[in-house]
Amino acid sequence: MNTRIYKPNDLKNHDVKTDIKDVLLNGKNIIFPTETVYGIGAHVLNETGVKNIYHIKGRPSDNPLIMHMAKISDIGHYVYIDQPYVEALMNTFWPGPLTLVLRKKDVVPTWITGGLQTVGVRIPSHPVALDILKIAGVPICAPSANQSGRPSSTLFEHVLEDFQGKVDIMVDGGKSEVGLESTVLDVTGVHPVILRPGVITKTMIESITSPVLISEDATKQQIPKAPGMKYKHYAPKGSLTIVEGKVSDVVNHINTQIKHHHPNQKVGVIASSDVKDAFKTAYVFNIGDPNQPAEIASNVYIALRTMDQLNIDVIYSLSFKDTQYQEVIMNRLYKAANYQVITV
Ligand code: TXA
Ligand code: MG
Repeated sequence: MNTRIYKPNDLKNHDVKTDIKDVLLNGKNIIFPTETVYGIGAHVLNETGVKNIYHIKGRPSDNPLIMHMAKISDIGHYVYIDQPYVEALMNTFWPGPLTLVLRKKDVVPTWITGGLQTVGVRIPSHPVALDILKIAGVPICAPSANQSGRPSSTLFEHVLEDFQGKVDIMVDGGKSEVGLESTVLDVTGVHPVILRPGVITKTMIESITSPVLISEDATKQQIPKAPGMKYKHYAPKGSLTIVEGKVSDVVNHINTQIKHHHPNQKVGVIASSDVKDAFKTAYVFNIGDPNQPAEIASNVYIALRTMDQLNIDVIYSLSFKDTQYQEVIMNRLYKAANYQVITV
């Protein structure tokens, strides 16, 4: 397949708009940037387009998709708002990186919900995503644009790596600003429940609602309520271990490990800028300034994908637990490491 690649400015062009509309209405797919990660989209009501997403990504069919919309005023057509706090959440955090799980109305097909009677809805803030939703004139369901199990795409080159020739249209929006997927919040009950942590944190949500619960699977290895949390996720090809403890002990431990690895094995380290020069390997990825949590969050998937591009066999990562975004950063890193954690 010949993939057509557009830049954000091309979306003003009449022929490009027609192309985008046709692709979606004809059951084909488009990859577009959002502020969290890139998404691979289909028209919600077009079963062929939606099935195609599962097929291209290699995604298990019981893992539901998020429905993206352009306007709060359209939401009531698709879902029931059962709880009084939901509107305040929408007005505060939309457009933005928050997905609300709500009871679906009949118009929402179960082929996007993995058979569930609820659906995740989000209004993204990225101008390109909003433009595409407006051009489409219909909700677009879009999971992250990565092959199932691989780190999500936050740079256009990641999208090319995973999907060139496999979708009709890709829009190059540069680096995703947030860099980690949206917070998934179940708002069907009296208290909201975080099913997947994101940069809209528990504290931020609690500033406007009753106490927020965190589902076990968002922190531990339990049977998840968000079906997507149970699969091996975000994993680089090399074996990843998180090393925790006092920084000087962590550095010493990793350096000892590097010394003992077989000379044919490439060893990489993911570290913050303050300690990046302390390691005895050429492959250190500087994930950012420890005082800039947003910078670290935005580089997590780039770090994992860079290790793959360099064919690193064994990866050690420091733990980034003193930041405002520790919940989401460590959730993704622990999963990427398949919970391989050493405390020194
Ligand atoms: O930031 C994001 O949310 C990105 C961008 C593209 O919007 N999308 C994304 O989609 O991360 P995906 O499909 O990779 O992850 C959706 C997560 C999965 O863990 C899924 O199980 C959960 O949301 N989810 C979706 N609908 C749900 C529902 N009705 N009930 C519970 N969990 C749901
Ligand atoms: Mg995903």
